[in-house]
Amino acid sequence: MIRFACFLVVALLTVTVSASAETVGFSQVGAESDWRTAFSADMRTEATKRGIDLHFDDAQGSVDRQLAAVRRFIAERVDAIIIAPVVVSGWTPVLLEAKAANIPVFIADRSVDADPSLFVARIAADFNLEGRLAGSWLAQASRGHCSIVELRGSDGAAPTIERKKGFAAVIAQFPGMRIMRSDGGDFTSAGGRRVMEQFIKSTNGLKDICSVWAHNDNMLLGAIEAMKAAGLRPGKDILMVSVDGVPDIFHAMLAGEASASVELKSDIGKYIFDVVQGYLGGRRDYQKWVLIPSDLHTPEDAAKMLERRSGS
Ligand code: AHR
Repeated sequence: MIRFACFLVVALLTVTVSASAETVGFSQVGAESDWRTAFSADMRTEATKRGIDLHFDDAQGSVDRQLAAVRRFIAERVDAIIIAPVVVSGWTPVLLEAKAANIPVFIADRSVDADPSLFVARIAADFNLEGRLAGSWLAQASRGHCSIVELRGSDGAAPTIERKKGFAAVIAQFPGMRIMRSDGGDFTSAGGRRVMEQFIKSTNGLKDICSVWAHNDNMLLGAIEAMKAAGLRPGKDILMVSVDGVPDIFHAMLAGEASASVELKSDIGKYIFDVVQGYLGGRRDYQKWVLIPSDLHTPEDAAKMLERRSGS
């Protein structure tokens, strides 16, 4: 009897341990921004908390590297694959390979234009809404009259495409608002600084420019550096708006150098792994798009946002 009971305990323990030890491959875009590194850190922490064996790959912004990582995960026969795609297109062949291998795929953050039947769900914010929120804030702050320079993200990436569209849709409602210059800064601080230096030259020191609109905070932070180096006063003479809500943008707001940022939450590992583990546990009623909400922040709540970040 005692022997049987011991056997039962060991058997139960084995089942419990193996049930929670899922192996998940995660292909991340890179480490181009503060938002991205916070997101990667959150994914690792959340996986550890849940006892998930996370195979993490940093694609360093390369589509080829990312495709190779996903193929490696398939060869390793992981239980699930999470992809934060560098770009929107080119995913169909590898998603078909994952499907043939019976490995469910989850899209995190950026979207893909492949047939939605090839992945379980996308867990992400609405980038178009982020652009619309930024545009609406600017329309109000400038009373509908504003010449804008735009710092775009990486070409072909969902947030670049969607934020641009959303912002443009709002300012199209205001005949006094126009984008005067637009160039890509790859979502990096260095890219933002480089593009801004060009804009400063080509607009005679941002003469008549009322706002800088950047597709992420890091590019705006780079632009702030370039403007200060040129003797300009970002946030005081020129409205500075962007997306992400990283700690440094709130510091810039408190210094009077940034005006508004739409928060893209980076602590989203819990939402992503809830869906992945739920699916692996047999749940099937997921929406194709599990939406993560976004909201806009200004200097008024910058200190509160920083406090919230340090508390989290
Ligand atoms: O895909 C989300 C975007 O990618 C973030 O806004 C940007 O910081 C990152 O690089």
